Amino acid sequence: MNPTELAKGIYWVGAVDWDVRDFHGYSTNRGTTYNAFLIVDEKVTLFDTVKRTHLGELLRHVSAIIDPAKIDYLVVNHVEMDHSGSLPELMDIIKPEKLFCSPMGHKALLDHFHREDWPYEVVKSGTEISLGKRTIQFLETRMLHWPDSMFSFIKEDGILFSSDAFGQHYATSERFDDQVPLSEVMEESAKYYANILYLFSPLVKKLLASVAEMNLDIKMIAPDHGIIWRTNQEKILAAYQRWCSGQANEKALVIYDTMWQSTAQMAQSIAGGLEEAGVSTEMLNLRYNHHSDIMTKVLEAKALVVGCPTLNNGLLPRMAGFLTYMKGLKPVGKIGAAFGSFGWSGESVKLLNQALEEAKIELVEEGFRHKYVPGPEVLDECLEMGRRIGATIKEKNAE
Ligand code: FEO
Repeated sequence: MNPTELAKGIYWVGAVDWDVRDFHGYSTNRGTTYNAFLIVDEKVTLFDTVKRTHLGELLRHVSAIIDPAKIDYLVVNHVEMDHSGSLPELMDIIKPEKLFCSPMGHKALLDHFHREDWPYEVVKSGTEISLGKRTIQFLETRMLHWPDSMFSFIKEDGILFSSDAFGQHYATSERFDDQVPLSEVMEESAKYYANILYLFSPLVKKLLASVAEMNLDIKMIAPDHGIIWRTNQEKILAAYQRWCSGQANEKALVIYDTMWQSTAQMAQSIAGGLEEAGVSTEMLNLRYNHHSDIMTKVLEAKALVVGCPTLNNGLLPRMAGFLTYMKGLKPVGKIGAAFGSFGWSGESVKLLNQALEEAKIELVEEGFRHKYVPGPEVLDECLEMGRRIGATIKEKNAE
C-alpha cells in the first residue's frame, strides 16, 4: 500500500492486515487495517500507530512523506495493542516532544509499557491544541472501546479521527467508503458494532447526542479500522443511532445445535411457524455459523429462539459458548424462547431459559422440550410455537 492524502497535508499512513482471521474471538473474514494518520504542519503529528507486527509498513508510509524523526507530536487515541503495540520501538525512533493521551490513556500506557519517561501530555474533553495552521479538539469517549479511548477532531478540515467507533475489520486497497461496495462496508460496520461496541450502546447513545450538541462540522470520519467515511457519513451515523437504541426488524433467528437431528427437526418446524406468521426467519446451526456472525444478525432481529439437546445434564459446548459470548455483549430489546430434545435428564431447556434471562432477553414462552425423536404431533406443537412467537414479534414491534 501507499500513503493516501485525506486533505492537504493530512495522510493515512496505517497498515493493511490481509491475513488476520481472528480478533479475540471475532472472525475477521475480510482481514483488517490499522489506521494511523499523519498531519504535516508546523508541528508534525501522528495519530495512533499500528499493531507491532506492522510497524515496518507504518514507517515506510511515513518515510514516503517525511523523515519519521521529524514527528513532533504523537496522539494516542486508544491504547489497545492493535493501535499501540509498536509504540515502544516507535518512541525510540521518533522521540516526540509530546505524547497526547486522555487521563485514562495515561494510566493505561503506564500499565502497558511501564515507561514513566515518555513525554505525556494529558488532555481532556474540550482541550484544544494548535499544530500551526490546524487545531485538534479532543473528546474523551470512555469505553468506546476502552476507558482510555478518545476522538481527535481537526477543526479546520472537519476530520474526525474516531478511534474504534465507526470502524470495520475490512482489508482493502482502497481507503474511502465511495471506492468500495457500500453493502460490504455496512455489513462489516454492523459486525464491528455487534461484536465490539454492542454492550456500550447506552454510551454510544450519549456520545451521538453530545457530538450533535457540539455541532461539529464533520466532513470526514476516519476510524482506526477499515475505510474512511467521506461520502456516507450520514448513513453510518444513522446506523449507529439505530443500533444503540435497539431498534429491531420483524425478524427471528432460530439458533440451535443438535446431536441426532431431533432438535434440528424441532428448529425446522418452529421456523416454519414463524414464516407462516409473516416474520422473516433465519436458521442458524451453531455447527456451521460462527458466533460473531450470529451476533451481527442479532443486532437487527427481534426474537432469538434457541434450541439445544441435553448433554451430560448440560448444554452442547457450542451453545454454552455462544450464550456466554452473547450475554457479555448485552443485546438490547430482544424477546426469546427455548426448545430442545433430551434422552433422560432433560435440563437443556431450563438452562437455556436461565441463560436468556441472564442476558436480559424477555422470555415469551415457557420453553418446549421433547424426549428423543419428535413425531408429527410434536412437530405440529413446534409449528404452533413458531406461529405464537411470530405473532408476539408483530405485537411488540407495533407497540
Ligand atoms: Fe481497535 Fe479497541 O482496538
